[in-house]
Amino acid sequence: MIDLRDLEPGDEEQLYRWRLEPEVERWMSDAAVPDRGAHQRWFVDLLAGDDGRGWMITRGDAPAGLLTLTGLASHHRRGSWNWFVGDAASRGRGVGRAAQALGLDKAFLDLGLDKVWAEVMADNDGAMKLQAAAGFMREGYLREHVLKNGERRDVVLLGILARDWASRRDKIRAELAEARLIAA
Ligand SMILES: CC(C)(COP(=O)(O)OP(=O)(O)OC[C@H]1O[C@@H](n2cnc3c(N)ncnc32)[C@H](O)[C@@H]1OP(=O)(O)O)[C@@H](O)C(=O)NCCC(=O)NCCS
Repeated sequence: MIDLRDLEPGDEEQLYRWRLEPEVERWMSDAAVPDRGAHQRWFVDLLAGDDGRGWMITRGDAPAGLLTLTGLASHHRRGSWNWFVGDAASRGRGVGRAAQALGLDKAFLDLGLDKVWAEVMADNDGAMKLQAAAGFMREGYLREHVLKNGERRDVVLLGILARDWASRRDKIRAELAEARLIAA
């Protein structure tokens, strides 16, 4: 089963190890790889929860990845979605699909957001296909928007509204429960 649990202080080291992995780093559109001190400061801020929330994605109770929603302090009732499945053995097995459904429930049902948006590297076909399946729509295209390893890369803006998720959630959750990826 896939689940989301609140982050704990002891998670920082695991998250940093995943953040350094090339398969995670190559798709991060937000920033360059942080040094350990910057990562620790980021983690302390996230745990404080003033502007963001983070959850450990778990697979059979073991840590498998990270999901965060940030920008929550703004009055716009929207959140910026960031995520990765850090455990390489857990990729391509439905962990992302399940975590996405659980995360969208956190965003819209628990936090009461109206919108979730994401910046995705334009060549990240896997994330794009997966997010489209939940109802994320393409809302913009930012040419040569980020600098990764000396190379300028394009970014796609995705967005999903509370009503988009509401119209899909029951079917998606039923499929995930049938596949025994989430609890019924
Ligand atoms: C993108 C990511 C979150 C997807 O999670 P995952 O657990 O690997 O994905 P799932 O197993 O749930 O895949 C579900 C669907 O996503 C799509 N998908 C996922 N990875 C894919 C890939 N590499 N290529 C093509 N499609 C892919 C497929 O449509 C798949 O559907 P299928 O079951 O019909 O094949 C994960 O692979 C990851 O963290 N990758 C590295 C970092 C990253 O890209 N983060 C997202 C930044 S926006």
